[in-house]
Amino acid sequence: MRKRIVAGNWKMNMNNSDAQALFESLNTTKTVSSTEIIIAPPSLYLSEFASKKCKQIYLAAQNCSDNENGAYTGEISASMLYSIGVKYCLVGHSERRQYQKESDLLLKQKVNALLKNKVIPIFCCGENLDKRKSGDFYQVIQGQIENSLFHLTDSQIKEVVIAYEPIWAIGTGVTASSGQAQEIHAFIRSLLVEKYSLQTADEISILYGGSCKASNAKELFMNRDVDGGLIGGAALDADSFSAIIESF
Ligand code: 13P
Repeated sequence: MRKRIVAGNWKMNMNNSDAQALFESLNTTKTVSSTEIIIAPPSLYLSEFASKKCKQIYLAAQNCSDNENGAYTGEISASMLYSIGVKYCLVGHSERRQYQKESDLLLKQKVNALLKNKVIPIFCCGENLDKRKSGDFYQVIQGQIENSLFHLTDSQIKEVVIAYEPIWAIGTGVTASSGQAQEIHAFIRSLLVEKYSLQTADEISILYGGSCKASNAKELFMNRDVDGGLIGGAALDADSFSAIIESF
């Protein structure tokens, strides 16, 4: 049985006092769900959050270096993340692909660095509005996945979580319909079946991200290939994030 996951990507939001308050509030909220709950705060807060007693929240970094260690000013390595107890790391978020010009090859190297250091990559993929309109989105998603993940062995790919985040739905209030999400998630799983096996594909969690909120989470999560969500804006408020967690 693959994991159900709700992950909150805080992006570059929250000054220290707000971040602490949100963390405390989430950490003391009792959810009855068997869903794995993850937060990805700015890296500045990871160490402190990791040192607190997390009842049911796992930590993710939003980014890491593709290098092991050394003279890379401003970077954080996968082994550093592991050493403070960070379990997951986002890779290839569309904002980093766009603003930091991260390429499929670089993301492949980040995935490798993370797996080598026992940190689980949450690999993000998704098309922009032009590709959605032109109908070329299948090729875009397939290319992103093939170029950055398909060098992995069967046992390695099982360690990866995939997040489908259509760029046109991120922060826009426009969510992919439940049908659109299921269609792409099923497509991604079919790629995994083809490359690996049905059994392997069945073990990989595929999350949806893009204007997912309490009011639409249930409908999205009902789909057989949608195993949870990667939440942006709605993860910045404890009540709305908790309501999404309870949507399964
Ligand atoms: P929003 O939920 O704000 O659309 O952001 C989604 C996202 O980018 C999560 O990584």
